This record gives sequence, C-alpha cells and structure tokens, in this order.
Amino acid sequence: MRISDPKVLGGLAKLDIELRPGTLLAALTSLGIGGTTDLLRIKKQESIPCLLRLLDENHIPHKFLGGGSNLLVGDGELPWVVLQLVSPEPDVILEGNLAHVDAAADLGRTVTFCAKHDLGGMEGLIGVPGTIGGALRMNAGAYGMQIGSYVREVKVYRAAARRIEILRGHQISFEYRHTSFAPDDMMLAVTLELPSKPFKEILEGIRICNEKRRASQPLGQKSAGCIFKNPPGASAGRMIDELGLKTLSVGDARVSDRHANFFVNSGKASAKDMLALIADVRDRVQKAYGVTLENEVVVWNG
Ligand code: EPU
Repeated sequence: MRISDPKVLGGLAKLDIELRPGTLLAALTSLGIGGTTDLLRIKKQESIPCLLRLLDENHIPHKFLGGGSNLLVGDGELPWVVLQLVSPEPDVILEGNLAHVDAAADLGRTVTFCAKHDLGGMEGLIGVPGTIGGALRMNAGAYGMQIGSYVREVKVYRAAARRIEILRGHQISFEYRHTSFAPDDMMLAVTLELPSKPFKEILEGIRICNEKRRASQPLGQKSAGCIFKNPPGASAGRMIDELGLKTLSVGDARVSDRHANFFVNSGKASAKDMLALIADVRDRVQKAYGVTLENEVVVWNG
C-alpha cells in the first residue's frame, strides 16, 4: 500500500515519522519472504496515538513489525502499511536487578548485556532471533524458561483504549507462546526483574543452550523458528518427523532436515509456497494423529 495523499504525508512529517516507500518486507523477515508496502519508522513513542489517529481517519490499515523473526508475510503489493519502532540509544538501562528495555532492542544483545552485568535467567533465549517486544508478545521461551516469568512492567500502546498504558506483570497473563495482549497492541518497553548470577555461570548456561540449539535446529538457514505450537503433551517436530516429512517441499519452501518443525526458505520461496507446505503438513498430521496443529508463526496474508 502506498501513501500518496499530501495531507497524510504532511501529517507524518509533522510527527517526525520516517517513511520508507515500497519497502520489500522479505528483507525484514528471517524467512526472507514478503511483498512490498510503505514502512513507517517511529522515532518518538509519544507520537503513536496521533499517528494511529491519522491512519484511521484516512482509512489506512496498518500492522506492527518487531524483528520479523516469527512472521510469514504475504506476497506482492500488501494491503496495509507497516509500523516499526526505531530503538533509542541506549536501549537497555540497568537499575539494580531491573533491566528497562526498549521493545525494539535486539533480544540476544539484551540477554548478553544483562549477563555482563551479572543478571541471568534468560540464558535459554540466546540464539532466538528478534526483538524484546516480539519475544514479549509471544512469551518466547526455550529450555525450560519463558520471558514472561521476568516481566515486572510493560509499556504498551493499547489499541482498544487508543493510548499508551503501563501494565504491571500480574495484569498480564503469560501462557505457552501466548499472552493476554490484543493482536493490535504495540509493545513499547519492558522492565524485567532478573536474578543476580555471576557472569561466568550465566556464560556456561548460554554455552549449553547454544550447543543444544546448534545440534537440533537449522540455525544458518532462513526460517521463522518453529512453525507450529506443540500440542499439549506432544512435540509437533517429533510427529512431523515420524511421518517422514523432513525435506518435504513446495517450491523452495521445505521442511528442515534437521528439525521437522522448522520450515526453511531454501531459495526463492513465496508465501504461497510456504502456506501450501504448512497446510499440507497440518493435513497429514491431522489424518495420522487426529491432532490439528496450531500455527506458532504469525501469518500476515491479505
Ligand atoms: N524431535 C524429533 N524430530 C525432530 C524434532 C524434534 O524427533 O525433527 C524430538 C526431539 O528429539 C525431542 C522432542 O522432539 O525428543 C522435542 O524436540 P526439541 O527439544 O527440539 O523441542 P521442541 O519441542 O521441538 C521447543 C520449542 C522451541 C525451543 C525448543 C528448546 C515450540 C514449538 N518449540 O521445540 O522453540 O527452541 O523447545 O527449548 O515450543 C520456537 O519457539 O520457534 C522454537 C523453536
């Protein structure tokens, strides 16, 4: 979608929004899939309520982009614009056991920055690509931990109330790869309360998680992490593997030969290819096990 109305363009300039017309979203997602649209980069969080009013009044649909690492975006010219936060410098400020982190901060860098200051707990998230905001929204987790356990406070633009609010940790429910935020709420910043741990000990935890991840996941390849959530008491990866579906492909969309719940873009896969592969695998698992796998990956198609 292209913004061409001079009134809207003027409004964006006034709010100090950086407009990147016709951005190819494939370049902004870890799957390397996605069509084009206007990208609006937000430098000041306070401008968000006015920006969203401007877009609403002019009937311009929008979506919020984090790190693009758990996302499958449709092909071609997209029917909405994309908003993205520009991270301030510094994006992590420490205060005792509290880490105040901007939502646009890189997750891995945040984990290592806190580790260097003897704050641990998030070792399992090392190697998970994306931003703190994205990790928060999905309640990212691995190796027995989840980010929600450490959340003290969240600054969020609440779409329904159309304003920025501060929520305490207990006001948010964090479940397995799910939170109580509405789909169009926008994470702005989070305060994490992290346990004190000597750097050396955290480093050892990070090394162990890195090793496990390297041994079981296709790290150097274009993917969105796990495609499906694990059904209660079972592993989607194991089920898909047991059906012999590793390397099953549609075009360049392929089930990883390393971990069957990772689908990789091995070349020029389109969203159409990836969606067809997801549907095919879901169908086969449903027929074999009577279980309907639910997407973990977020799909922006149409
Ligand atoms: N397995 C297979 N074949 C495969 C993949 C897995 O047999 O192709 C088996 C493994 O041998 C193991 C079991 O299935 O016995 C579980 O596998 P794994 O330990 O890799 O964990 P997972 O349940 O597949 C979850 C998360 C990952 C996270 C890992 C490590 C989900 C959907 N996935 O994977 O998170 O990194 O645990 O804690 O919850 C993600 O969220 O995108 C993600 C990759």
